[in-house]
Amino acid sequence: MGNTTEPWGLLREPYSESVKGNGSIPWSLTGPVVLLGAYCLLFTWSILFDCNLKFPVFGVKSPWEPVTVSYFRFFRSGETVLQEGYRACRDKVFQFRRAGTNMLVLPPQYVDDIRKLPSHVANPTVAHVHNLMGSSTNMDIILHNNLHFRTIQLKLTPNLSAVIQPMQDELNFAIEHGLTKSEDEWVTIKPYHTVADFVARVSARIFLGKSMCRNPEWLEVSTQFTENVFISLVVLRLFPMWTHGLLNWFIPSSYKGSAYLRKAKKLLVPEILRRRERNSQGVNKPEGNNPDFLSWMMEIATPEESDPITLAHLEVVMSLASNTSQMNAVQVLYDLLAYPEYLEPIREEICSMVNEVGPWMSWGKLAFSKLQKLDSFMRESQRFNPPTLLSMHRVILEEAVLSDGLVLPKGAHISMAVNAIQNDPEVTPKPKIFDGLRYYKLRQREDEANFHQFSSTQDRILHFGYGANACPGRFFASLEIKIILVPLLMDYEFKLKHRDQRPKNLHAHEFIYTSPDAEILMRRRPASERLEL
Ligand code: HEM
Ligand SMILES: *[C@@H]1O[C@H](CO)[C@@H](O)[C@H](O)[C@H]1NC(C)=O
Ligand SMILES: *[C@@H]1O[C@H](CO)[C@@H](O)[C@H](O)[C@H]1NC(C)=O
Repeated sequence: MGNTTEPWGLLREPYSESVKGNGSIPWSLTGPVVLLGAYCLLFTWSILFDCNLKFPVFGVKSPWEPVTVSYFRFFRSGETVLQEGYRACRDKVFQFRRAGTNMLVLPPQYVDDIRKLPSHVANPTVAHVHNLMGSSTNMDIILHNNLHFRTIQLKLTPNLSAVIQPMQDELNFAIEHGLTKSEDEWVTIKPYHTVADFVARVSARIFLGKSMCRNPEWLEVSTQFTENVFISLVVLRLFPMWTHGLLNWFIPSSYKGSAYLRKAKKLLVPEILRRRERNSQGVNKPEGNNPDFLSWMMEIATPEESDPITLAHLEVVMSLASNTSQMNAVQVLYDLLAYPEYLEPIREEICSMVNEVGPWMSWGKLAFSKLQKLDSFMRESQRFNPPTLLSMHRVILEEAVLSDGLVLPKGAHISMAVNAIQNDPEVTPKPKIFDGLRYYKLRQREDEANFHQFSSTQDRILHFGYGANACPGRFFASLEIKIILVPLLMDYEFKLKHRDQRPKNLHAHEFIYTSPDAEILMRRRPASERLEL
């Protein structure tokens, strides 16, 4: 243990040494393996793992409590654990427990230090894979391959103008087929599912092109893979890493996720081979003349990366990576229902954009970037309902000494408490007040017009991380959410089912999401008020 080349071998190293020191590793004893396994799972006391007590521990009530209880506490009350830790420690490091790992939470003054650490010292990808329980969920492919990351940076983001119209087109199709046409009757919808469908379709249009994006099998595979990865990681994080190999046999989502991945490969590999064939014949244009992510990946892939199975796998990784857009869009919708006074200013802004640049379908990147009120509302909504409470994840591969002398031990998994940091009154004045135009107002200040955007990272606003390793998809995400919200807000009215009851958020570990079953009411607005295509 601790000597494997597998990254999480590293994670346990600093702690395992001390465990060895007191000579009480249960599985080194002889005896019935199964009984010992059960014992370790349930009754290993936290104190056995508390070898790294340099930093105060939160989320552990007593050193004698079984580790699985501490893991479960973070699963249930992650937000409280992080808030308590942040309040008590302020500018100091604290830790909590997850799946046999001591997770270190760093205060924000280290954000620049962490940003500057090279990835062979503090590695973000190893940390993502660890977060996603990657060796159990097929997400460890990103340890060896960053083609999708490069393609987002080199092709998708510089080319956002080229993807707007296809996205709008796909959204119109989804609305046409999925939403009520009634102007009189209120219809019940579950926004979680409605928006998931829109995001899946609109993303697929860009990730795979027109010929594949309406393929019901792909739509099912891409959402189901994500869902099963999510279930697996939520469950696996409740147990020590060393049990995961065994648990994978019993958790249905683990083999379901793998089955969906196989299905995705079966679907995409023939398409990739077909494209390669056409390319070799000199027919370079992607179908329908619109560029798509798959063709971009194929264009810049090195020979080793060009394996069709790998490309297919990365397409699935992309649908998982872009999943957060769904949650953000649903949260914005709920916040508009909770704070309806912002709806009209946002609609007016959209109308004046129509007057300025013409019908919605002719909008370019600039028009979307001018929706400053909507953008501000999205950022404020993210402040109240962030998809994750932690970011800036890194796994320390070599002991690192920060600018003030703080030593990060090799094997530590570090992160920052995004939500606690942003809602510190020193970062956000009057943090309890929801001000949908907060960031809009900040942008009116001199020389700040281009800051404070939904997609801007700041050293205290870390929803997308910060620095070179920040989320590469945030510009696409911002655009996608706006493309979905504009027609929804212009063409429909929404109403809460029970007055003043915004659907409640659900929490699992550091993740915040909306209930899949929450319902609201909608109806179509009269033609005179609707957006002209
Ligand atoms: C509102 C939606 C989104 C949020 C809140 C979000 C957030 C994040 C965060 C926090 C990270 C890690 C950064 C760090 O730890 O420093 C990340 C990484 C990443 N995001 Fe996003 N993201 C969103 C949408 C997207 C979209 C739409 C895409 C794809 C087009 C995407 C692709 C990625 C990729 C590829 C990575 C790097 C993971 C890797 O190493 O493979 N994200 N994102
Ligand atoms: C945008 O996409 C088109 C079509 O694939 C391509 O020809 C062009 O080079 C891309 N532009 C950038 C900046 O990548
Ligand atoms: C995102 O993930 C959730 C939960 O894992 C899933 O229910 C949803 O369908 C996914 N959405 C998309 C657009 O893939």
